[in-house]
Amino acid sequence: MRIIVTKNYEDMSRKAANIISAQIISKPNCVLGLATGSTPIGTYDNLIDWYKKGDLDFSEVSTVNLDEYRGLDHENDQSYYYFMMNHLFKHVNIDITRTHVPDGTEPDSEKACSDYEAIVESYGGVDLQLLGLGHNGHIGFNEPADEFPKTTNCVDLTESTIQANARFFEKIEDVPTQAYTMGIGTIMKAKKILLVASGIDKAEIVKKAFFGPVVPQVPASILQFHPDVTIVVDEDAASLL
Ligand code: GLP
Repeated sequence: MRIIVTKNYEDMSRKAANIISAQIISKPNCVLGLATGSTPIGTYDNLIDWYKKGDLDFSEVSTVNLDEYRGLDHENDQSYYYFMMNHLFKHVNIDITRTHVPDGTEPDSEKACSDYEAIVESYGGVDLQLLGLGHNGHIGFNEPADEFPKTTNCVDLTESTIQANARFFEKIEDVPTQAYTMGIGTIMKAKKILLVASGIDKAEIVKKAFFGPVVPQVPASILQFHPDVTIVVDEDAASLL
């Protein structure tokens, strides 16, 4: 596990974007696993800038996103599909038919999850998986639990996650209480993992996840067992290391 400590959010975002561009340049038809949340926005902004400057070509890239709220459709501005369109896809030359987000509108959760797992598998593996980090150690939407979920699953979001995500919704009642997420097993199958974390509010969980015991109560701690993980954090998030 490599930990790169950067000066601030901008520096973290540039470093993370550099790692993703290296992947795209070295393998133009790579499969990227993508993440939402506020942390990767700056990373996507850099990728868009470099695409506009002619340094990056997304035409052969495929993407699979980590998760989606159950019940939100593509037009809902809080859906992760909408997020990805607005923060990356519509600004670059990616083929939208090769971008995937779990289908939040599929009411049959077993079908939604097995269909999505099949899509990820059909690409023959993720080359580089980008991850953010929840305050309780969740990755994707895999919440603290008694075991690590293996494949794409439907989760009941914890109260703390609902509260944390409430800032994006008009009122707390609007925050979905369930989500479809790649499992920890799905995430761990990626060849390379890149996790970004920023801000003093992430300092405690960064320490717990990467220097504490590997337990399903801190889902991100499993990354300690992955053979190729790069963690890019800013000084605030690294302040307890
Ligand atoms: C959400 C997403 C996660 C993300 C986390 C942290 O719950 N499902 O993928 O990592 O939030 O978000 P932020 O980067 O805004 O702190």
